[in-house]
Amino acid sequence: MKYIFGNWKMNLGIRESIALSRAVMRIIRGEEKTPVVTIFPSFTVLNDVRKIMARSRVKLGAQNCATDKKGAFTGEISCSMLEDVGCDYVLVGHSERRNVFNENNELVAKRYKSAIESRLTPILCVGEPKNEREAGNAQGYVSEQLLSALKDLKIPKQKDLFVAYEPIWAIGSNRSALVSDMVFMHDMIRSLVVSITDHQENKVHILYGGSVDSKNAYSFLREAQVDGVLVGGASLKIREFEGIVQSAIEVMTAQEL
Ligand code: PGA
Repeated sequence: MKYIFGNWKMNLGIRESIALSRAVMRIIRGEEKTPVVTIFPSFTVLNDVRKIMARSRVKLGAQNCATDKKGAFTGEISCSMLEDVGCDYVLVGHSERRNVFNENNELVAKRYKSAIESRLTPILCVGEPKNEREAGNAQGYVSEQLLSALKDLKIPKQKDLFVAYEPIWAIGSNRSALVSDMVFMHDMIRSLVVSITDHQENKVHILYGGSVDSKNAYSFLREAQVDGVLVGGASLKIREFEGIVQSAIEVMTAQEL
């Protein structure tokens, strides 16, 4: 299976979100073999989008979640609220949360814990800044992010684990990672997640994110190590997103996935 996730970030209001959701639904309507397609709209439109997508295979995700179940946490949205509004997935520790809003590994770990203990499937986002890659420390940096979020957690064995590897310098820059670096990092992440959690390898899914578009998606998705892509900018342009989903369909057909 391949996973195509579209992170809309803070871009669309209600009308635009509904229109784009309808267009995304049309992409896979009638297709027999499809990747898992999930969109991550803003909190304010989740309910409207859920209604639109009620009978579609497109899944719904949120861009962040609270550390706690309920209480005096002004401005936060809990995992049960996200379940309530129809979300299946939630992003945790996206690089914009970490870098623009100063969320450190400790806070990300708390958010991840609350999501993994809910019925949602969290996608733990990790990735190194440019200086760490240039210093040859990409592996160490990402390992620390993974360890911080996953150690000490009791995760039910049947739960699928998702990590998005998104090198910070590749996000929104038109400079995606080299396939060879991506494959290396995905292998490293998968074996580390397996060793920390004792999960079966086939329950661990690693997505790549960072300047994915309709032209480069196939070259990433055809790699066995790349279970899918987390798409930002290109998920807002329906032709681009369609091209990425079609690339996944082609790979799944060619590789009989
Ligand atoms: P991008 O963003 O595709 O625009 O690089 C990816 C992300 O932030 O998840």
